[in-house]
Amino acid sequence: MQSPSDTLSRPLRDLRISVTDRCNFRCRYCMPAEVFGPGYAFLPKPEILTHEEIATLAAVFCTLGVEKLRITGGEPLLRRGLHELIEMLDAIPGERDLAMTTNGVLLGRFAEDLVGAGLQRATVSLDALDAETFAKMNGVGATPDKVIRGIDAALSAGLGVKINCVVQKGVNENEVSALAEFARSRRVALRFIEFMDTGNTNRWKRDQVVPSADLLAELRRHYDLQPVASPRVGETAKRFHHADLPDTEVGFISSVTQPFCSDCNRARLSADGQIFTCLFATKGHDIKTMLRDGASAEELTQKIAALWGRRDDRYSELRAGLAEPIEKPEMSYIGG
Ligand code: GTP
Ligand code: 5AD
Ligand code: SF4
Ligand code: SF4
Repeated sequence: MQSPSDTLSRPLRDLRISVTDRCNFRCRYCMPAEVFGPGYAFLPKPEILTHEEIATLAAVFCTLGVEKLRITGGEPLLRRGLHELIEMLDAIPGERDLAMTTNGVLLGRFAEDLVGAGLQRATVSLDALDAETFAKMNGVGATPDKVIRGIDAALSAGLGVKINCVVQKGVNENEVSALAEFARSRRVALRFIEFMDTGNTNRWKRDQVVPSADLLAELRRHYDLQPVASPRVGETAKRFHHADLPDTEVGFISSVTQPFCSDCNRARLSADGQIFTCLFATKGHDIKTMLRDGASAEELTQKIAALWGRRDDRYSELRAGLAEPIEKPEMSYIGG
């Protein structure tokens, strides 16, 4: 079947699969502990797609033009037997990118197995190197050295590694230079992400966003950063490389100050089998019922193609003009 385009002529190229809505962190910007406490109702097991169901849907997405599969959560490494799911995704015919977003704490334990199963890249979140700041941000008192051990294990196992840092004014903006130095020491790409108004619980305020332009200016006081010559269509980050370390990049994901909806080619599959066509979509589209009712690959393909054909999402471009906040899915559920 031909690859579909949405109403804004954007193709479908990237599928982000949330394999669990649980996490062993409680980052304030994502899962504040006072909301995601002991009584929080996470998805019940029977609602969660099995490895086989995820692989079936991923294969359908691949026939529709998906070139990139990203495993997310919650924290994906909390899912039992994740390497088996990765093997199944790796076995889908065709060449494609297979990556995972993780907080890194369990990477030391699993990196070798993940590489053996076919995982190519891991993006590790690391918001601060200062122990106190990091503990406050992750909400469970985890130390940065745990994450650093995970990053080093991933590098030793042969994974391509990137580091993601969400920057919040008055919280971790002072960490930017230290993180840049750390990323240079490991020769890994580092991306700074503007704090976003995901979900309904993180108390986002516009004045807590540090514009990427300010961070770039600050970093350029220390480093010679050159724009990457050939940006990729649809990518989230504006990328630069260090002039003295050409293979090491710094990127900026600026959904608030410079939205990138115009070529957004990302679909998301939640752990309970809902397809979301935007990180901020008010609701998902149930595909699990059809799958569990025995729909054929052909029927699933038609359904997903039709859904993508109707897509008109561009929330980040509209955000500034909204009179009232809208109901949005939590990022831990929909997948980062
Ligand atoms: P690469 O494949 O390595 O380029 O990474 P990526 O940018 O596809 O994925 P990653 O998971 O590292 O994304 C980084 C962060 O960018 C996410 O955690 C989100 O904060 C943000 N992000 C990713 N996709 C979107 C999107 O479609 N819209 C918005 N507004 N933010 C996004
Ligand atoms: N703003 C920006 N990025 C966020 N993430 C989670 N919540 C937010 C938010 N409010 C992203 C971070 C983290 C990944 C799992 O999700 O990049 O590394
Ligand atoms: Fe967990 Fe990632 Fe959300 Fe932090 S940002 S609570 S590590 S899912
Ligand atoms: Fe894509 Fe929605 Fe993010 Fe815009 S806000 S880039 S449409 S996911």
